[in-house]
Amino acid sequence: MKATILAVDDEKDMTRLLQRTLEPEINCTVTMAFSAKMALSILEQETFDLVICDIRMPGMDGFELLEQIKATYPDLTVVMLTAFGNIESAVTAIKKGAYDFIPKPFEQDEIIFRIQKALERSLLLKENKRLLKEKETSPFQLIGKSEPMQRVFDQIRLMASSDVTVLITGESGTGKDMTARSIHALSPRKNNPFIPVNCPTIPEHILESELFGYKKGAFTNATRDKEGLFQAADKGTIFLDEIGDIGPSIQTKLLRVLQEKEIKPLGDTKTRKVDIRIIASTNRNLKQKMADNEFRQDFFYRLNVLPIELPPLRDRVTDIPMICEHLVTKQCKKMKKEPKAISPEVIDLLMKQPWPGNVRELENILVQGILYSKGNTLDLSDIPLKDMSPKKNRFAVSISDDMTSLPYKEAKERILREFNHDYIGARLSMSKGNITQAARHCHMDRQALQQIMKRFDIDPESFR
Ligand SMILES: Nc1ncnc2c1ncn2[C@@H]1O[C@H](COP(=O)(O)OP(=O)(O)OP(=O)(O)O)[C@@H](O)[C@H]1O
Ligand SMILES: [Mg+2]
Repeated sequence: MKATILAVDDEKDMTRLLQRTLEPEINCTVTMAFSAKMALSILEQETFDLVICDIRMPGMDGFELLEQIKATYPDLTVVMLTAFGNIESAVTAIKKGAYDFIPKPFEQDEIIFRIQKALERSLLLKENKRLLKEKETSPFQLIGKSEPMQRVFDQIRLMASSDVTVLITGESGTGKDMTARSIHALSPRKNNPFIPVNCPTIPEHILESELFGYKKGAFTNATRDKEGLFQAADKGTIFLDEIGDIGPSIQTKLLRVLQEKEIKPLGDTKTRKVDIRIIASTNRNLKQKMADNEFRQDFFYRLNVLPIELPPLRDRVTDIPMICEHLVTKQCKKMKKEPKAISPEVIDLLMKQPWPGNVRELENILVQGILYSKGNTLDLSDIPLKDMSPKKNRFAVSISDDMTSLPYKEAKERILREFNHDYIGARLSMSKGNITQAARHCHMDRQALQQIMKRFDIDPESFR
């Protein structure tokens, strides 16, 4: 689709020059306005991807126009034309919300490059808006369009329709908590309680009485009957978070609940049936814990009826732009700040990080960025990523155990496939599926990129 640009300048020759320079080089149409007033009335009737605007104009000047545009169309990208060497007006333009300023007179290559960048930003904002809207209508709070996340969403839907025990595994910060909530929210139990229990934060001897409840006199401080969390979750879902960290004695007691769906409060003689759905989660390797005799096998198999594994963020890099947009909007609202955009350079940097703490770590960095940022866009200078070693590049080849058993050629092919999906996927995601643009970012020609995409079945459509 052609990008649309509105060029505003009282000097008609200047707007014509912009049109003649940009239209043949960028896939765009340039509409001309010869005053701020005319620009505002055109903006009322049409939508534009970008406004290029002169500062000095008779009547309403460029700064005032910029203010009005930002008040009415806060997401519209505006680039100002400033007189060469006039730093002051350039600074004012940026302060008032312009995305960039271009000194006049300009070099042809320079203006094409900068307008292209501004358009990229504008298209990125537009696409993220569309995806967020799509998300609002979806029952998941989880964001992600990548293949691994689509698989997770399918599993969530499937699991929601049954009552079977679910075990969610995944590294810290991958969204286990949100996944558990999504399963509950989509299940027939959705109008009944969802009770999360953070197992390791409760001392083991208290965990038992918390979960099962107790009768008056069951132990020294039991001065009255107390209902346990299992009973509180009746007809709903109980979420046993970080189940890998509980000791063997409580494992034995939970095994009984999983098998019989019945509980016995401490000090009681009778058991009671409970109608609960159990979801558990862990970031531990339970198979290893079983091998070390720290986790009961029978308990593991009862828990692991429907397993769901959340992929680490480094395996779904193409989701990062969308997740960032969502998290920044969410956090700005929470922090009672004006919504902020994210510069494409920041997105690019964030897509290159290894994220050992996954989405939680990404969210922390963005929160700090929001705090530091003064303008309405998160820029590189706002992002505290200094302590992240560039050596920890997510593209470093990792050879899994099962790969060493493959013949050399097959193992190499697999690594190549993974690398190309990751790398080219990230480029296509940045360019919103535009192959020409992605090829330019890769410093290769379009045809060569297309050949690689064909060989490794990379579909540009899935990035649009
Ligand atoms: N796919 C996603 N889309 C949007 N936000 C996400 C996504 N995944 C995680 N988050 C956000 O990241 C943070 C961590 O998610 P969550 O608590 O579900 O992870 P977790 O796996 O339970 O982490 P931990 O192991 O540290 O308990 C939350 O603030 C959540 O809102
Ligand atoms: Mg958690």
